[in-house]
Amino acid sequence: MGLALARGLVATDPSVRKRLRLSGRDASRVSKTAGGLGVGWARSNGEAVRGAATVVLAVKPQILPEVLDEIRTEISPRTTVLSIAAGVPTTMIESTLGPKVGVVRAMPNVAASVRASATGFCLGRSARPIDRRRARAILEPVGTVVEVDENLMDAVTGLSGTGPLYLFLILEGLSDAGVKVGLSRAVATQLATQTLAGSAEVVRATGEHPAKLRDLVTSPGGTAITALHSLERSGLKAMLLDAVEAATHRSEELGRRWQALRSTSAPNAESAR
Ligand SMILES: NC(=O)c1ccc[n+]([C@@H]2O[C@H](COP(=O)([O-])OP(=O)(O)OC[C@H]3O[C@@H](n4cnc5c(N)ncnc54)[C@H](OP(=O)(O)O)[C@@H]3O)[C@@H](O)[C@H]2O)c1
Repeated sequence: MGLALARGLVATDPSVRKRLRLSGRDASRVSKTAGGLGVGWARSNGEAVRGAATVVLAVKPQILPEVLDEIRTEISPRTTVLSIAAGVPTTMIESTLGPKVGVVRAMPNVAASVRASATGFCLGRSARPIDRRRARAILEPVGTVVEVDENLMDAVTGLSGTGPLYLFLILEGLSDAGVKVGLSRAVATQLATQTLAGSAEVVRATGEHPAKLRDLVTSPGGTAITALHSLERSGLKAMLLDAVEAATHRSEELGRRWQALRSTSAPNAESAR
């Protein structure tokens, strides 16, 4: 995910190469990756963030405490700290780096790798307008960005963070369905994928409520109303409501568990993803 953000930045503004530094666990891998992108790299996390205006934390939640300890002395109240670690509250980052540090917490999704993420983000209590601008400058090159209050980050996780899973499953089902009615797998997957992307684009371009658009394609006695009857009987919409609600609750639960483990300093806190 960190690499996706770096690629997005470089693609949007190649001059950023001079200002971007990567770090990671394996120096030879980091140097190779940085070389491929044409950006700088550092042998340690502390060295990577030294003097940086913005620091992006893209490690697994359970590794975050050790990384925060490594960078703590290099962070000042002027630094923007953008964390994408799922389930980690801004207060936890502030408690290590200092209450005056501008912390931004974001939840992108896997589509960031193709620069089509739906990303929610929130500001920590000391974050200033410049922290918001810096975070947006990093998140916008990989997709659509929406700001929410921190208490809605679990809902963002349930809807768009976990969202690719729902749609991959729907695409798999539609692809199977195409095969069932006689299409080849390749043709079925191609048609299903473009139908999903095209339908999303219609909603985006018109700004209409999806129910209105659905009504427009439902002609009397036609295929759409027949399929709709079948989907309503199967309860597709209720299934989606249940799934997003369950994922949101799971995100809340993992966040609580992670914080409890953290407060007792257990080293192996479970990842929130
Ligand atoms: N993947 C998603 O769809 C997604 C969506 C939303 C949020 N997130 C969040 O994004 C974060 C990264 O997830 P990911 O899926 O990208 O995980 P990942 O593929 O495992 O990447 C984590 C990166 O952190 C590096 N790393 C490990 N220990 C480190 C250390 N001590 N110092 C510096 N770098 C270190 C890893 O390097 P090595 O490879 O050398 O171990 C790896 O490059 C997580 O907090 C996750 O919750 C992910």
